[in-house]
Amino acid sequence: IKLESCTFALFGALGDLALRKLFPALYQLDRAGLLHDATRILALAREAGEPSDHLRAIEQALRLHVPAKELTETDMARFLARLSYLTMDFLKAEDYSALLEQVSPQDQLIAYFATPASVYGGICANLAAVGLAERCRVVLEKPIGHDLASSRAVNDAVAQVFAENRVYRIDHYLGKETVQNLIALRFANSLFETQWNQNHISHVEFTVAEKVGIEGRWGYFDQAGQLRDMIQNHLLQLLCLIAMDPPSDLSADSIRDEKVKVLKALEPISAEQLGQRVVRGQYVAGSSDGRPVPGYLEEENSNTQSDTETFVALRADIRNWRWAGVAFYLRTGKRMPQKLSQIVIHFKAPPHYIFAPEQRQLIGNKLIIRLQPDEGIALQVLTKDQGLDKGMQLRSGPLQLSFSDTYRSARIPDAYERLLLEVMRGNQNLFVRKDEIEYAWQWCDQLIAGWKQLGEAPKPYTAGSWGPMASVALITRDGRSWYGDL
Ligand code: BG6
Repeated sequence: IKLESCTFALFGALGDLALRKLFPALYQLDRAGLLHDATRILALAREAGEPSDHLRAIEQALRLHVPAKELTETDMARFLARLSYLTMDFLKAEDYSALLEQVSPQDQLIAYFATPASVYGGICANLAAVGLAERCRVVLEKPIGHDLASSRAVNDAVAQVFAENRVYRIDHYLGKETVQNLIALRFANSLFETQWNQNHISHVEFTVAEKVGIEGRWGYFDQAGQLRDMIQNHLLQLLCLIAMDPPSDLSADSIRDEKVKVLKALEPISAEQLGQRVVRGQYVAGSSDGRPVPGYLEEENSNTQSDTETFVALRADIRNWRWAGVAFYLRTGKRMPQKLSQIVIHFKAPPHYIFAPEQRQLIGNKLIIRLQPDEGIALQVLTKDQGLDKGMQLRSGPLQLSFSDTYRSARIPDAYERLLLEVMRGNQNLFVRKDEIEYAWQWCDQLIAGWKQLGEAPKPYTAGSWGPMASVALITRDGRSWYGDL
């Protein structure tokens, strides 16, 4: 499948995201032979100076971020030949005539906004003013707003120019291969779908742990915090994919309609319930891989008074027929012992138990979906232990599918490669619709309002640990524990 020719205009082309993720992803699409020969890439940024210097910076970033074995000089030369650099002030209408000259008249324009959301509306208006909007798709990076009101303001400004079917809102978790696999796993296997409800599932755990701290992003992160940075988008999207009803087809709107129903059914958590249902944490100095690391308040450019959270664990409930009474535990944090994204579905025990009483805690199947690293799926099943000396002794072991072992030859593409490919194809399947973002904000806003009302500081946890002890209490209170050795 070779794509049609397009002009890809990257606004904010010298920013961290563009250099670390977007240019490498475009390079990989080109290397895979997917880009049309005539496709051009316009790097747009406000930095003045020699375009050739900026292009060299982009080349250097590619050499740094693309694995050496995937970098050949021929591929690099072909990719760089597609690229040009233009200095622009994105909010100045006059600067768009130079852009207009660079876009081939027949081409579809893809405008990727890797800039603060506050300028999205201005860019859209300026694209419209030079007549580029009619043949343009726009890609919006997160964070879109800071709460429901500000995200509405951004979405409304974009909607002044672009209909929803031209707007591609990024949540890069949706581009991860294993996240897309959730749809295949659930809806291509009748084995799971028949069990996928409160009759058979007791609870579900979502863990998205990161080893890194704030990595020089204190300015952004301190305004956001882990709830806005990770739960409002990535974790709620994962929750939707696990909890949604089967869509009637694979079209973008069928899937997104089902996700919205889940978000609408999320039970609000009142300020009175916060103590029992939600834990906020902030890391203090500790260690990572045996190296000492500073606490959040000692990071570069930090404000020592900040009470922004770097960890959240919570119990969510979905008020519908399928999930009544099932607990969804979400946990995410910076400076955890390892990078790990995993979903664990806990199935209920059989209705009548006939084995030795001391083995009772083994009972209950678990489906473990590992998103990163070591992508794969394992179903924990109980069998009899082998051997003449063993009676009916039970043993829990995995039926396992490791993606890296099974598809050894296939390289797992980065999420952004898939997402850019889908924008070029005009497929909105993996992008977030306006109402999804807004319901997700609505739910998060009430949590944040509750925190404000209580005025409690986040609970400290040592960098390199699994978070505050209260996050263990959150789940043990319900007679459960976080899966594995966590
Ligand atoms: C981003 C957050 O959306 O996701 C970052 O802003 C976070 O804070 C990142 O580090 C995690 O993504 P991944 O793909 O590394 O799990």
